[in-house]
Amino acid sequence: MQAIRIVGGAPLQGTVAVLGAKNAVLKHMVASLLAPGEHRIVNVPGIHDVALMGQVLRHVGAECERRDNELVIGVPDEPFPEAPLDLVRQMRASILVLGALLARTGTARVALPGGDDFGTRPIDLHLGGLEDMGATFDLVHGVLHASAPRGLHGAEVFLEFPSVGATENLLLAAVLADGETVISNAAREPELVDLAAYLQKMGAKIDGAGTSTIHVVGVDHLEPAGHRVVPDRLEAGTYAAAAAMTGGDVTITDCVPDHLRMELSKLADAGVSVEVGEGWCRIRGPERPAAVDFATLPYPGFHTDMHPQMVAFLSVADGTSIVTENVYASRFRYLGELNRMGADIHADGQHVVVRGVERLSGCEVDGCDIRAAAALTIAGLRADGETLVVGAGHVDRGYDGFVPKLAAMGADVSRVEV
Ligand code: EPU
Repeated sequence: MQAIRIVGGAPLQGTVAVLGAKNAVLKHMVASLLAPGEHRIVNVPGIHDVALMGQVLRHVGAECERRDNELVIGVPDEPFPEAPLDLVRQMRASILVLGALLARTGTARVALPGGDDFGTRPIDLHLGGLEDMGATFDLVHGVLHASAPRGLHGAEVFLEFPSVGATENLLLAAVLADGETVISNAAREPELVDLAAYLQKMGAKIDGAGTSTIHVVGVDHLEPAGHRVVPDRLEAGTYAAAAAMTGGDVTITDCVPDHLRMELSKLADAGVSVEVGEGWCRIRGPERPAAVDFATLPYPGFHTDMHPQMVAFLSVADGTSIVTENVYASRFRYLGELNRMGADIHADGQHVVVRGVERLSGCEVDGCDIRAAAALTIAGLRADGETLVVGAGHVDRGYDGFVPKLAAMGADVSRVEV
């Protein structure tokens, strides 16, 4: 098993560039299935989830090759409408082929994704919306058999919660459906806006992406297109938290600071100097952060996927911070690992009480998901002695060159086999 070994103490310095967003490109890959022919997507990170989605596309009959951050996808005239369990289990985002395949072929068989460390993560909102559009579902031996024998039609869908995945699934289905679809209480995430922009280049008629109400008028067919993926705000935010944690001075380039407005403002509240410009931000960390409270919410609220990194940072704050997790029922497994490093953190229901300590001390910890592994690495950058984050493979799912980028900023960090 691979681990990340960190010897804490070095303040991060220099410049780091971010690549395209994982949570955008995975959706673009699925969206490409809507138009036969060759698509070109650039600014694509070399991460494990992109490789996994490539396997999903190949299973469906598409060709998919990534070279130098460019992805070339060849979509067949008649995709094979199935996503198998071994791939869906490894990556929840594969559930999005449901909307795309239903729209393209009128049928889809997709293994039902299970729960994970964040709680059960149901897909009822995806299914309810697609049913409103004329789809029917049958669960057979853990596989969802979907069909729309008369094709999908436009519908008014009201989402109980602005789910990112449900909004995307409905958008993918609606662009080729018959008539107009209105998605109310839609997610407003920048990655979703980027998906809509790509679909529009393919010829889709979409209005209102980035607001709570999205209007889509279905078209007969879509054309292949080229697209540059929006920068990854989570990669940028993670390096911002790392720089802040070490009292460093780092300029993050190729990013959109506006997409991180809430997260950067909370860092500033904690005493971090934050300077932003067109496509970059400069982060200068304090000697010791001040405590701040924050609550995760759908965009433009504080991103749940920045919660563990921010808690790692606040673990050494001067004072007590209260963190409220509103997006996931449970996202706290990493807290016990931070406490093993000397942090003083307690979860009670959706709330986390972070009593800042002066020092963390390095030890072996378990990075149980992408953001937990990133957060524990950030903690290790400030801890006394050596920290070993086991489960390094998780960071490869979402960060291209995580360890080399940290090392280039002066961190004493490496990948080791354990
Ligand atoms: N939910 C339901 N029913 C549904 C759909 C969602 O109850 O039908 C609940 C979920 O259980 C969860 C909440 O709604 O509690 C939010 O889920 P959402 O659908 O918005 O998230 P997602 O589409 O499954 C994406 C990202 C996640 C990110 C969330 C929230 C991708 C591939 N994943 O997941 O990213 O945490 O949005 O912003 O885009 C990560 O990158 O580390 C990651 C987990």
